[in-house]
Amino acid sequence: MNILLLGSGGREHAIARALSFSHSLDKLYCYPGNPGIYDIAEKTDIEKLDFQEITEFCLSHNITLVVVGPEKPLADGISNILTQNGIKVFGPTKQAARLESSKGFAKEFMARHNIPTAKYKIFSAKDEKSAYEYLKNCKFPVVLKADGLAAGKGVIIANDFQSARVSLDSMFKGMFAEAGKTVVIEEFLQGREASILAICDGKDYITLPSSQDHKRALDGDLGKNTGGMGAYSPAPIVTESVMDKVNEKILKPAIEGLRVEGFPFVGCLYAGLMIDNDEPEVVEFNVRFGDPETQAVLSLFEGDLAKLLYSAACGSLDKSAIKEMKGKHACCVIIASEGYPDEYKKGFEITGIEDAEKTGAIVYQSGTKLQEEKLLGDGGRVLGVTCVSTTLKTAIEQAYDAIKKINFSNMFYRKDIGKKAL
Ligand code: AMP
Ligand code: GLY
Repeated sequence: MNILLLGSGGREHAIARALSFSHSLDKLYCYPGNPGIYDIAEKTDIEKLDFQEITEFCLSHNITLVVVGPEKPLADGISNILTQNGIKVFGPTKQAARLESSKGFAKEFMARHNIPTAKYKIFSAKDEKSAYEYLKNCKFPVVLKADGLAAGKGVIIANDFQSARVSLDSMFKGMFAEAGKTVVIEEFLQGREASILAICDGKDYITLPSSQDHKRALDGDLGKNTGGMGAYSPAPIVTESVMDKVNEKILKPAIEGLRVEGFPFVGCLYAGLMIDNDEPEVVEFNVRFGDPETQAVLSLFEGDLAKLLYSAACGSLDKSAIKEMKGKHACCVIIASEGYPDEYKKGFEITGIEDAEKTGAIVYQSGTKLQEEKLLGDGGRVLGVTCVSTTLKTAIEQAYDAIKKINFSNMFYRKDIGKKAL
């Protein structure tokens, strides 16, 4: 089959790599892609993320399946448009994508289906007064979440009433533009986080190995929230008994709930969990593969990913397309540009990727570009250096050894990825 992969990050590089090993894949195209992805997928002449243009490309290039990496086109309805044109898509409809594009929708959905999550209340800018009244009676810290998509930045944890009030005020005044004009105020959950990725066909699903992201910029989980500074998989906190609860209390009711409400979920459902005393609660749902989690998780993947995603898109999940992935561990360390997630400089030449790969590492690219045959840093998160081994400890050691081979001005990475799990 021919596949078009949409997106340009480390997540998409990891998806492209796993797809490229699929027996059922004939040709892989990408848009917009990145220099790492261009090594395994053909760059298309698509000029912009215009659903009509993408549809025409699919029809003229005999595309069997479109795999959508990021959330924005899903929230904007790309899946609806392609499906209407007879093109199979791995990625949910606009309606099902509300699980990520509206935190308020997600909370109310979880309430309707008894899915465990933090207690909450939703307020819009016009209910400002009642929001402040509600805050007065909250236990602190409290979590404020912009309802809409805010590129992973729409969550504020406030330690006391005063700072919560100031943050809420800024949100209502447009700090996250329209996305923050409605705010979910929710209880702060204690525990440890983990992520579960489920490949869904609308009524059934299969999970990939668990993982854990590192959201803060600095070692010891200090500093600002980022898109993710590293991940490892599997996450030992997700024991068999926790996974049973995730299946029974979270994934089954979510997939069944969306189906019953008329919006069957086809794609990767990402459950961001907080686990306390072996009890999982949902911190967030995303409607696509997580990043950087996918860089770790899909490095462990064995089987035919193209077949798996196509079968999901056709509504008849072929679980045999995925092989048992036990006994292996992956660690992905993100190399960012110093200053990220705030301001940073870019455009520095990156060297040493081949040497790092010679050690056995997989180097996924995210913020990179090619200029006159040189590879330059072109984003906050630049590379994801990933190693797979028989233990997490050796996967971590190998990833940090491989990083020593890589060099660019301003490179910056956390030194403690995976440490918590040892
Ligand atoms: P989200 O975008 O909803 O995943 O939130 C970003 C991060 O904020 C999460 O990964 C958690 O670390 C933290 N967070 C979000 N909601 C809560 C909560 N209710 N309790 C504790 N931490 C939270
Ligand atoms: N790693 C978090 C996310 O993909 O949203």
